[in-house]
Amino acid sequence: MDSFVEEILLSNKEIVEVCERLGEQITADYRDKKPILVGLLKGSIPFLAELMKHIKCDLEVDFMQASSYVGVKSSGAVMVLKDMITPVVGRHLLIVEDIVDTGLTLQEVMNLLSDRGAASIEVVTLLDKPEGRKVEVDLKYVGRRIPNKFVIGFGLDYNELYRNLDYIGVLKASVYKK
Ligand code: IMP
Repeated sequence: MDSFVEEILLSNKEIVEVCERLGEQITADYRDKKPILVGLLKGSIPFLAELMKHIKCDLEVDFMQASSYVGVKSSGAVMVLKDMITPVVGRHLLIVEDIVDTGLTLQEVMNLLSDRGAASIEVVTLLDKPEGRKVEVDLKYVGRRIPNKFVIGFGLDYNELYRNLDYIGVLKASVYKK
């Protein structure tokens, strides 16, 4: 095991199995709907790449990067750093997230896309940390519920590092308490 990892929560094999299961459900629900998978950058990239292999219907892919405003009073608002290219009016959107914690980012992105006239908006997330939730968000497809621990790997970072691990692990506290 890597020296900075406390515990492995999902091996690569388990991640692939999760993606197979989610892919089957999404295929059944979206047949003939030609959904747009909207990957939230940067963390969702490995998950989106694995998941889409297991969705057996026509689909499109686009990306968005949103960031919470820091230090602004009326927080909860997000700043769109990179926007989608594909027009969303009348389209079925499936937002692809790496992990949902407070739910604030997702809530704002969903409101924004709904204002633009999407026909439907659902969420697929690899990981869910329900203990961290501050606003209720409807997560239609969840890969794995995990405890309130800081995790890295398979897209998830700590200070932009560790996204390249092929598994999900708990980061040792000694790394961020240095
Ligand atoms: P929230 O649901 O708005 O709090 O934010 C979710 C985002 O916070 C995710 O897309 C990640 O970028 C980040 N995040 C939340 N928990 C973790 C974690 O345990 N490791 C790495 N990033 C995390």
